[in-house]
Amino acid sequence: GLVSRKTATIGLVIPDVANPFFAEVARGTEDAAIAKGFTVILCNSDWKAEREKMYSKLLRQKWAEGVIAVGSRSSESSLRELIDPLPMVFVDRFTMLPGSDSVWSDNKKGGLLATQHLIDMGCRKLAHISGPTHSPASIARQKGFLLGIKEANVSWEIVKGDFRYRSGYDAGMELLTRDVPPDGIFAGNDLMAVGILQAAASLHIRIPDDLLVIGYDNIAMAEYVAPPLSTVDQPAYEMGRIAFDMLHKKMQDETRESRNVREFEPLLILRESTNRK
Ligand code: RIB
Repeated sequence: GLVSRKTATIGLVIPDVANPFFAEVARGTEDAAIAKGFTVILCNSDWKAEREKMYSKLLRQKWAEGVIAVGSRSSESSLRELIDPLPMVFVDRFTMLPGSDSVWSDNKKGGLLATQHLIDMGCRKLAHISGPTHSPASIARQKGFLLGIKEANVSWEIVKGDFRYRSGYDAGMELLTRDVPPDGIFAGNDLMAVGILQAAASLHIRIPDDLLVIGYDNIAMAEYVAPPLSTVDQPAYEMGRIAFDMLHKKMQDETRESRNVREFEPLLILRESTNRK
């Protein structure tokens, strides 16, 4: 049979430790783990599949008892294969894999809500800045965006970003220096939205007078930038906490055949950046 050791350790693989969304997820997981006498090995994949692979190997060598994979870019089945036979929970993506649990928020619906809000506020030329091509959350938000514009008579385009400040800034500089710039931008996450705010400020484009901007995540910073940023809330800390609880249950379940899903509803948070008078 399989050799196993009780180490009371789990692995948590996130894409980017500098992104406050993932930092909050990690805090939620760590607090829940400590409460149950577990410690957490934090691994930062930098959105790279080969790092996810390297860390999966490492976590098994260190006798981790389970793994939580957040927003990963690898395919579910390849990750599952790497982690096997350890119990595993996916966060920030939905999985149909038998035996694997997931905690996610309905990103397609969130993308739709953000897009409809811009349209409701009178925008006629929309742009969406997407996240990295392989991010399941980004793909779902983009679907929501396309659904929203389908129902309205507006012009639109999608610019590729990578969920970091700089790509939001670059996309903003490109879009806002055109002859006819967009009047509404839906950024795939808050960090890119903050980059857009900075691009607009440097071009003397006023928000919300000339341009509306909405982000995604509702990181704490969204409330403190100028102007305060409208966004779509995901309960990052809670998602991390629940992921550990699901993993903990799974570690005690010998059969590990169940597939549990905890889905959160995205919530529109309205602030000054979309408050056109
Ligand atoms: O800000 C990082 C983003 O990547 C979040 O929106 C999260 O859902 C992830 O996929």
